[in-house]
Amino acid sequence: MSASRLEFAETIARKAGQLAVDLRQHPDGLVIDTKGPQDFVTAADLAVETLIRAAIAAKYPDDAVLGEEGGLTGDAAACWIIDPIDGTANYMRGLPDWAISVGYFDGSELTHGVIFAPDLGALASARNGQPALLNGAQISVSDRFDLDQSMVVLGYSRRVGLNDHLDRIGRLLESGCEYRRQGAATIGLMSVATGRVEAYYEPSLNVWDAAAGLMIVRAAGGKFAAPAFPDFLNAPGEVMAANRNMDSLAALCRN
Ligand code: IPD
Ligand code: CA
Ligand code: CA
Ligand code: CA
Repeated sequence: MSASRLEFAETIARKAGQLAVDLRQHPDGLVIDTKGPQDFVTAADLAVETLIRAAIAAKYPDDAVLGEEGGLTGDAAACWIIDPIDGTANYMRGLPDWAISVGYFDGSELTHGVIFAPDLGALASARNGQPALLNGAQISVSDRFDLDQSMVVLGYSRRVGLNDHLDRIGRLLESGCEYRRQGAATIGLMSVATGRVEAYYEPSLNVWDAAAGLMIVRAAGGKFAAPAFPDFLNAPGEVMAANRNMDSLAALCRN
């Protein structure tokens, strides 16, 4: 398991985060496209992905890269999985919950994950077989099991729809759980890994939203359920990550 890959991913995530912060200082014209309702593309999404791809091409030219904006390039089994800005709708409004996400799949399993949230001053990272870190300090998932003291962060997917989401919220509240929606899967997964919340759930999530965060949750002692690799590289799917109370929380989240 390579420490140098993790150091590389941390360095490039920090550079990418700084670029996004710099670009937001000139918000006029920042939004350059939309993919659907509430689904924006900013100049920063593209510029950050270009920066990360150039760094990977220079240091690891044989690896494939899968990014939200540029799709899959290369045909190697080993693949970097990038979301240049997760939480674009927050980022462009000056809301703090957004992050750069860099994951690495070595051809057989997820081995590295880095999430950098500049506005939160948070860099979470993990590599296989090592504890998860937040700004260099070890983190772990929460020990809370009581549902009436637990909190679940939810994502909403227009691919799945409203009734699915409302039913879930109803079950969680009836059980005594609290819920939040932060608008950035990376931030929700990082909150699970740091023990601030007990779970993250989204019914249809892309691999670039989830890869780094799932790696970090697992290294922090948590559990997750997601489409199997490498299939997850090709299509979105249901993603759940939690502390050791995964089974009870999943029963509430799944329709
Ligand atoms: C989105 C965010 C959001 C999640 C969506 C993602 P983007 O990513 O993570 O929280 O609910 O499924 O697409 O477009 O801001 O990178
Ligand atoms: Ca997007
Ligand atoms: Ca995303
Ligand atoms: Ca994105």
